[in-house]
Amino acid sequence: MTEEDLIAAARRARKSAYAPYSRFQVGAAVMAEDGQVFSGCNVENAAYPEGVCAEAAAISAMALGGGRRIRYVAISAGPQGELRACLPCGGCRQKILEFAGEGAEVLVDGPDGVQRHRFADLMPCAFGPEDLAP
Ligand code: THU
Repeated sequence: MTEEDLIAAARRARKSAYAPYSRFQVGAAVMAEDGQVFSGCNVENAAYPEGVCAEAAAISAMALGGGRRIRYVAISAGPQGELRACLPCGGCRQKILEFAGEGAEVLVDGPDGVQRHRFADLMPCAFGPEDLAP
């Protein structure tokens, strides 16, 4: 699967977003280092803070599917009817960090094309699994 295919998977996932409160729809597709791809969309509910982000949903699917190291995260997002280049929120960055492989990248869909970020640049000075080492 190419990077373009991964962006296409994020776009497809976005179509399933359930975001009646924010009307901000997000799709994410994670490629694990073994090549498996897992998608997720944001799912909100009436108790606003209890919603799930698209990246978190994709990471849960990856864990269930046996993926353990992330190579790419692709994101396609925006208010209903609009595509806007948006980077993952802080909580999702922490969730990505848990599984980010060496050199993991974030691909962000947007009206001017796809932005590419090294995940390490998005999460400097992070608290991570190694901080819990005995
Ligand atoms: N959202 C995501 O799915 N991922 C992010 O990284 C940022 C925000 C969702 C949460 C909520 O359903 C909507 O976008 C507006 O915040």
